[in-house]
Amino acid sequence: MAGRIPQSFIDDMLARIDIVDVVGQRIALKRAGKEYQARCPFHDERSPSFTVSPTKQFYHCFGCGAHGTALGFLMQYDGLEFVDAVEQLAGQLGMTVPELSSARDRGTEDLYALLAETADYYQQQLGLSEATRGYLQRRGISPEITEQFGLGYAPAGWDNLLKRFGGNRQKLLAAAGLLSQGDRGQYDKFRDRLMFPIHDRRGRVIAYGGRVMGDEQPKYLNSPETQVFHKGETLYGLFQARQRKGGLQRLIVVEGYMDVLALAQHGFSESVATLGTATTRSHAELLFRQAGDVIFCFDGDRAGRDAAWRALESVLPRLTDGRQAHFLFLPDGEDPDSLLGKQGKEGFEAQLQAAVPLSEYFFQSLSKDARLDTVDGRARLVERCKPLIEQIPDSPFRDLMEAELARRSGAQRPANSAASAPPGVDRRPPRQTRMGQLGVLRTPVRALISLLLSNPKMAAGVAQPPPFVGLSLPGIDLLLRLIERLRSSPAPAGAVIESWEDPREAHAMRRLAEVELAGAEADWQVAFDGYIQILVERLDQERAANMPMQLDQLSADDRRRYLEQLSAKAEADRRGRFKLD
Ligand code: UTP
Ligand code: MN
Repeated sequence: MAGRIPQSFIDDMLARIDIVDVVGQRIALKRAGKEYQARCPFHDERSPSFTVSPTKQFYHCFGCGAHGTALGFLMQYDGLEFVDAVEQLAGQLGMTVPELSSARDRGTEDLYALLAETADYYQQQLGLSEATRGYLQRRGISPEITEQFGLGYAPAGWDNLLKRFGGNRQKLLAAAGLLSQGDRGQYDKFRDRLMFPIHDRRGRVIAYGGRVMGDEQPKYLNSPETQVFHKGETLYGLFQARQRKGGLQRLIVVEGYMDVLALAQHGFSESVATLGTATTRSHAELLFRQAGDVIFCFDGDRAGRDAAWRALESVLPRLTDGRQAHFLFLPDGEDPDSLLGKQGKEGFEAQLQAAVPLSEYFFQSLSKDARLDTVDGRARLVERCKPLIEQIPDSPFRDLMEAELARRSGAQRPANSAASAPPGVDRRPPRQTRMGQLGVLRTPVRALISLLLSNPKMAAGVAQPPPFVGLSLPGIDLLLRLIERLRSSPAPAGAVIESWEDPREAHAMRRLAEVELAGAEADWQVAFDGYIQILVERLDQERAANMPMQLDQLSADDRRRYLEQLSAKAEADRRGRFKLD
């Protein structure tokens, strides 16, 4: 796409605009020396690591690595396509995006024009083909949906398109992917098929899928990759989904053309299909730019599971704050189309609601044949999970995934957790708590915040000043301020969050407040005290670790013990310890 607008125009435009204005119109920037700072809008963070440089005219986040120009910021923040972002910036400057000029661009324009003409032709033919309309009717597709998706019919015969659009445009027809090459020349690729035009996000036809209406093979023929059609970056039905009134809260990703149509027919206009390919990272980004919630529907069979796993892998690096993926595995032999036929709209909605969150699917799949009752099995689980979790951008979600891995591998309490403490320091084992009942909230700071939000009165029981003041863990500062706030008035979570000054912190707290605490209320105080105790112990360790150690001042015995502990710690590190907070 970038090739469609001359680079010189883009350079010129970027030279005239100030990135500080563009970013500053959207988030609050604070001057810091030569640059500006903010909390990164692309990931959840407490202290600002997002900088905008007026001299360099770019932004960069040291936390999540997001970076780019004013144009990139618009794309990422407003979810705009490249061309739309250019148009918006140009509009602000009163510049007009130049006419597409290069020969290659003219070629593409001609391709779009030809594809549009063929789509019209196929649509006309559908009007003339009673059999095709009968087929659609039998499959429950109304004339409205037929029209909305621009369905058509490619009549039988080898040269309908050739005769009509060939001549001096035969090369173009071939470039559009509409011809096949035989021994004796070219002929129409799509013959006697129901035609599904594939649109780009602006609604231009860029390719086709064609289905036979009998039992012939192959069932579907698809356009090949062309100058304007890239499977890995295209989602069938996205253009139509984007027309949905009231915007898109979620997207449902299915495997087939007919599934998208059937879903739309039942009012689920927020559905799209990958085109017989695996879900790519481009797909994932495209999906999440439209909606924060993406539900992947797959067949319950082996192929469906493989496809789901590949989707998960593509999605992980895109899971910035506020994005969620769910997985729905359909019963054997069913697809959304057939299920809608049996269960109707409500039944399918219930299935959607029961979709498994990515985290659950992730750990379920990776724990499957790992023997978690053995040390080796748990180590294997860690080995499998770690590289994948590391792909998730820094966020509360990633923290929770790490904590969950720690819980499942039993590594949240390394046996040698006191190893970093030199001899002489209290090494009593951590107090037993019942925090296991708190499920996924295994990071002490998050768990404490969550507990406080459900039980504001607990704050009153914390010693003053809190015994872990001085500990440097992410979120500790927020925790301290929350305790302070609740000590002065134990307001319910809603009111606290509502009046909280910092919106990003408020957002983080809202999520933690949403977590439903497991276990009985009576256990919560025990868990709360347990977590406070963990923080106190961490602080002890932190202090001890920072204490200058003079090995030569230790007795021989102590020195040996100390060195042993060091090597035990190194060993633990080698085995893959992970950060807990
Ligand atoms: P399905 O066989 O599940 O098709 O293939 P479907 O969409 O449910 O169609 P109906 O209900 O039988 O009419 C799923 C997708 O895989 C691709 C198509 O994109 C199809 O929508 N596919 C399938 C092909 O590309 N070629 C084929 O021969 C079959
Ligand atoms: Mn089907």
